[in-house]
Amino acid sequence: MARYEIHGGNPLNGTVTISGAKNAAVAILPAALLVSGKCRIENVPDISDVRIMMDILAGMGAKILSAPDGAVEIDCSNVQCTRPDRELVRKMRASYYLMGALLGRFGKAHVALPGGCNFASRPIDQHIKGFLALGAEVDETADYVALSPGEEGLRGSRISLDMASVGATVNIMLAATLIPGQTVIENAAKEPHIVDLANFLNTMGARITGAGTDTVKIRGVNSLKGGTYAIIPDQIEAGTYMAAVAAAGGNVLVQNVIPKHMECITSKLREMGARVINYDDSIRIIRTGKLRQTTVKTRPYPGFPTDMQAQVCVCMALAGGVSRLTESVYETRFFGYCTELESMGASIWINGKTATITGVDRLYGATVCAHDLRAGAALVIAGLAAEGTTFVEHIHFIERGYENLVQKLTALGADIRRLDN
Ligand code: EPU
Repeated sequence: MARYEIHGGNPLNGTVTISGAKNAAVAILPAALLVSGKCRIENVPDISDVRIMMDILAGMGAKILSAPDGAVEIDCSNVQCTRPDRELVRKMRASYYLMGALLGRFGKAHVALPGGCNFASRPIDQHIKGFLALGAEVDETADYVALSPGEEGLRGSRISLDMASVGATVNIMLAATLIPGQTVIENAAKEPHIVDLANFLNTMGARITGAGTDTVKIRGVNSLKGGTYAIIPDQIEAGTYMAAVAAAGGNVLVQNVIPKHMECITSKLREMGARVINYDDSIRIIRTGKLRQTTVKTRPYPGFPTDMQAQVCVCMALAGGVSRLTESVYETRFFGYCTELESMGASIWINGKTATITGVDRLYGATVCAHDLRAGAALVIAGLAAEGTTFVEHIHFIERGYENLVQKLTALGADIRRLDN
């Protein structure tokens, strides 16, 4: 199985360009099912989750053309299939967006339950609650979800989510865009990719307001037409490179970012002693002295992202003093990487939702295993900062979400290579 070999200890210097946002791309590609005509989507990251989503859509009859500049042309006009390939759907989490998109376009869907990173129990009851409120009949088994119009047909509705779920907000937006009447999502998620999806749909003719606030309103329209849209830069990829510089030291210009999306991460890394300078669409991060301890609690946007929990934990592991890291989105997320970090010399004590991390002077190379995407990214960062050689196994998780990781890090001076076995 492929793995990374990392010889740690090199500071990172130079410029890295951030790719399009994974979690926006995996929502916007299935959203193209709602469009009559061709969409040109720019800044699509070349990562395995996106490739799987494109394979699913192509298997359903979408015409897809990938240009070398990262743009994807997708035309779903001829799609008739409402039952996407089960094996492909099970390979990734965001394939559940096919439920909302197919319900919106055809009024029915038969979609296997998704796979993806299993770092916690990840129920979809809020998605189902939304579909039911929109008038769908839902047949949910341990294997799949089948949706069809209920007796009174599909129509806009008011849905108050029990928690600000990203996935449920996206799925309801997808389902509601083409159905009659107004849908109001209360306690909606506010993540940047929710806004990006709304901007994509509105560019194609949808009537969505309030994305980025906790109330999203969707006024159903009859059809969407084709157009061109560019996906936003990936907040978490940018944060991962910033954390890598904080942990390994160096001076890096992170370009193609939206600094506003990075505020929470930036302020924590500053608190820890990194120097961070914001420009219009780039951020310079410099770390020379020793990092200082801090306290982080993950929260939905605009709070500190759960998807940066593991990466900041590595910084804490190398900081002076005792740091506290509390996870409030997915309780079990520590288990994907803390034991691996301990095998590299980190000192971490987990009590329920909180990890207490006592900083050490250095981490040491070891053979470690990625258990999910962000946990894997954190182990790469630990390897870059560690003394000696680290092998990171199960890198297929990491390749779900980081485009050209090895090339980007190598260009910054890291000693990392991908071994095929
Ligand atoms: N939840 C429910 N019921 C639901 C939906 C969510 O109880 O029906 C709970 C979850 O168990 C969790 C919380 O609500 O405790 C938030 O879950 P959310 O639905 O917001 O997460 P998601 O849509 O499954 C997306 C990202 C994740 C990211 C989370 C939180 C995508 C494709 N995935 O997941 O990204 O961690 O939001 O920000 O957008 C990653 O990129 O590595 C990743 C895991």
